[in-house]
Amino acid sequence: MELDPLLAQEIIKSIDALAVCDTEGRYIYVNQGWVEWLGIRPEDVLGKYVRDVVKDSKIDVVLRSKQPVVGEILITSKDKPDTEETTIVNYYPIFRDGKFVAAIGFIIVKSTNLALSLKQRLSHFDKEVKLLKGELHRLQGSRYNIDNIIGDSPPVRKMKKQIYQAARSNSTVLIDGETGTGKELVAHAIHNASQRNAASFIKINCAAIPADLLEAELFGYEGGAFTGAIRSGRQGKFEMADKGSLFLDEINQLPLALQPKLLRVLQEREVDRIGGRASLQVDVRVITATNVALDKLVEEQKFRSDLFYRLNVMSITVPPLRERKEDLPQLIIELINRLNRQLGVDVKGVTPEVLKMFSGYDWPGNVRELQNVLERAMNIAWRGTLELKHFDWFTKNRRIPVPAVANDSSANSSLKEIKNASEKAALDDALRSCGNNKTHAARKLKISRTMIYKKMRHFGMVCK
Ligand SMILES: Nc1ncnc2c1ncn2[C@@H]1O[C@H](COP(=O)(O)OP(=O)(O)OP(=O)(O)O)[C@@H](O)[C@H]1O
Ligand SMILES: [Mg+2]
Repeated sequence: MELDPLLAQEIIKSIDALAVCDTEGRYIYVNQGWVEWLGIRPEDVLGKYVRDVVKDSKIDVVLRSKQPVVGEILITSKDKPDTEETTIVNYYPIFRDGKFVAAIGFIIVKSTNLALSLKQRLSHFDKEVKLLKGELHRLQGSRYNIDNIIGDSPPVRKMKKQIYQAARSNSTVLIDGETGTGKELVAHAIHNASQRNAASFIKINCAAIPADLLEAELFGYEGGAFTGAIRSGRQGKFEMADKGSLFLDEINQLPLALQPKLLRVLQEREVDRIGGRASLQVDVRVITATNVALDKLVEEQKFRSDLFYRLNVMSITVPPLRERKEDLPQLIIELINRLNRQLGVDVKGVTPEVLKMFSGYDWPGNVRELQNVLERAMNIAWRGTLELKHFDWFTKNRRIPVPAVANDSSANSSLKEIKNASEKAALDDALRSCGNNKTHAARKLKISRTMIYKKMRHFGMVCK
């Protein structure tokens, strides 16, 4: 493909400074940029030797070697004091049909001021990247505090009290609870409520990292400690968490071989990097979580008892959702709000029938399962209130009893029927969560005791 000669001329003009010389090193062409740069008229240089005009030009090197010379620093001065300028120039030999015909020199960076400002900008970006990395780290670190733990049921209130106790102390905490109950949330909350909250919260999942890499992840290594090791060595999570908290999730999966090493760090408060000579002092509060009973593992000799006692100085058991169903309405609102943002949908809530159906289910996967069930229904509904029909897939697979209350297809129900159904469901829930104590249920619903009895009679509910 040939370049249009006119276009080629325009391109040549636009180059900051370009000079072409013949094979003897005499100027045959200089562009406008070159003229402006050196302040010499073309007629004064054409036919002259480059070396006589620009003393430090490397054009002779190109003439001799027929090889490019790139990134050369050239200092030029224009007869006047303090007019010295540093530029960066590239030189190339030009061949036609394999024959050396000319050499060119052109500026790539007009003045080092520009290069310096580029350097400054780069260092500015570098600082910004570091800052953002820190921010990201902080965000990835401890995101939740105790207010993010939704629930006001007695078991949750007891747990929050334990979180505050744990936050005040420096001892290790063992969090246990079924899958999806919110153990990670609890670990974050402890760190955030503690005096260590300004330092890092570092998390490591003992089950997610292959056993042979876990030791290096936890304790770090010195350069050359093993094949594949980074030359400068690497910090372990204990070092990273210095002055902060280290959360060892799924501690039950910690390989037996590493257990004495962890015990040593907890006792001595110092770590030994793999291949390192000296021990490093660390000040770390360790929080662990398990979803299998650790004491059972100790009995089965799958977990060292001395380590277990060391980890279990304080313990928090996160209650399963089935033991705190009164938290369902609050949890549903919180999770729907969260998912609305994540999914970009606009769901307002669930009908009383859905709440009732949820209350009749045991939630083996706990809050995480609730979240997943809501997410799927929200992807079906997109907006409005989630009705039983949005949960067909869920109720069918699990044979969950669907409440026979006024069916929720509001299109077929009168407003009065819908109102009655909601009222009855709210009454049911309040009574159940208060152990059928009418006074407490009345207080919860902000109505009088007499009204509770009246409503119960109205809905044909048994007044025990
Ligand atoms: N009380 C709660 N309030 C609000 N969200 C909660 C609560 N409990 C759990 N969640 C949410 O449920 C999900 C699961 O929680 P988390 O990851 O802490 O569970 P986990 O106990 O660590 O489970 P696993 O043992 O499976 O790791 C998360 O999205 C979390 O935000
Ligand atoms: Mg977890």
